[in-house]
Amino acid sequence: GPVLGIEGTAWNLSAAIFDTDLICLKSKPYKPVVGGIHPREAAQHHAAEIGALICSVLDEGPRPVAVAFSQGPGLGPCLRIVGTAARALALSLKVPLIGVNHCVAHVEIGRYASGFEDPIVLYASGANTQVFGYLNNRYRIFGETLDIGIGNAIDKFARSKGLSHPGGPQIEKLAKDGTYIPLPYTVKGMDLAFSGLISAAKDSHESIANVCYSLQETAFAMCVEVTERALSQTGKNEVILVGGVGANRRLQEMLRIMCEARGASFAVPEMQFLGDNGAMIAYTGRIMLEHGSILEVKDSRVNPSYRADQVPVTWRSTIPT
Ligand code: ATP
Ligand code: FE2
Repeated sequence: GPVLGIEGTAWNLSAAIFDTDLICLKSKPYKPVVGGIHPREAAQHHAAEIGALICSVLDEGPRPVAVAFSQGPGLGPCLRIVGTAARALALSLKVPLIGVNHCVAHVEIGRYASGFEDPIVLYASGANTQVFGYLNNRYRIFGETLDIGIGNAIDKFARSKGLSHPGGPQIEKLAKDGTYIPLPYTVKGMDLAFSGLISAAKDSHESIANVCYSLQETAFAMCVEVTERALSQTGKNEVILVGGVGANRRLQEMLRIMCEARGASFAVPEMQFLGDNGAMIAYTGRIMLEHGSILEVKDSRVNPSYRADQVPVTWRSTIPT
């Protein structure tokens, strides 16, 4: 049956109803007037908008059989607004409540959109940069950023050059006219770090186009290297790219080239499923409901540092060997 999903871990407050297909998806993004995302301001935005947003989704779609929400990771104040609304709604509709891990939801909507069975996943967003693969009922994190997420890194650099938030799309445009200059490349085993790269980019006296181009080339090559190593170590043969930074054409191209060279398939979900969105929460909530992963209200606290590998993946059975 139809499941309502509510997302609001950071900037995008979004709600959707998913049955066998997406029925309805609406978003009310928070846009900072100056600077980056302020957690309390974002939470105030979510609190002000969540009632009207949920009502408009409920008006358009069928009555949901369950309410799913992003339980974490994310900004604490934002998570608490969404959690409170989800609990109240589930109780008043007398339907089950489902707590969805935001990262797992990116993976699941990516699998849905690509049709891939068992991909390596590069999750490149504002706050997160992680490489996942499924093994023994968990999404294992093979590698991840040791400091900040790739999107926040790019946005920070953009802000230092006077560009508005989010900087990612603007850096992508500026990079088109640049040529390569060396910048710090940091991959440690399977993990990545971006702060040295961003400091060097900020301090560079090269043209903005050259710095943008080289920032992208360096940061993306780091992600591609770790993704490739995860492919090779697991023997999997599919890759998907998810998260807001996945909109970047150059990152898509670099991953596609790497995958072609290895004989692996590559896919990126359509835009509406790429960045943070309610559809991925509704969709993942629906498969969790089918497999009995529901939450009691007393256990439904949000978790700002909830990790993908803490979630028992009850809906994917291990193929016996
Ligand atoms: P999460 O909570 O999963 O970390 P998020 O709140 O950061 O996600 P997303 O929608 O996944 O939200 O990603 C937003 C990020 O994507 C921003 O940092 C933005 O600059 C970046 N981004 C969007 N488009 C592009 C692009 N074309 N190139 C590079 N970065 C981009
Ligand atoms: Fe996200």
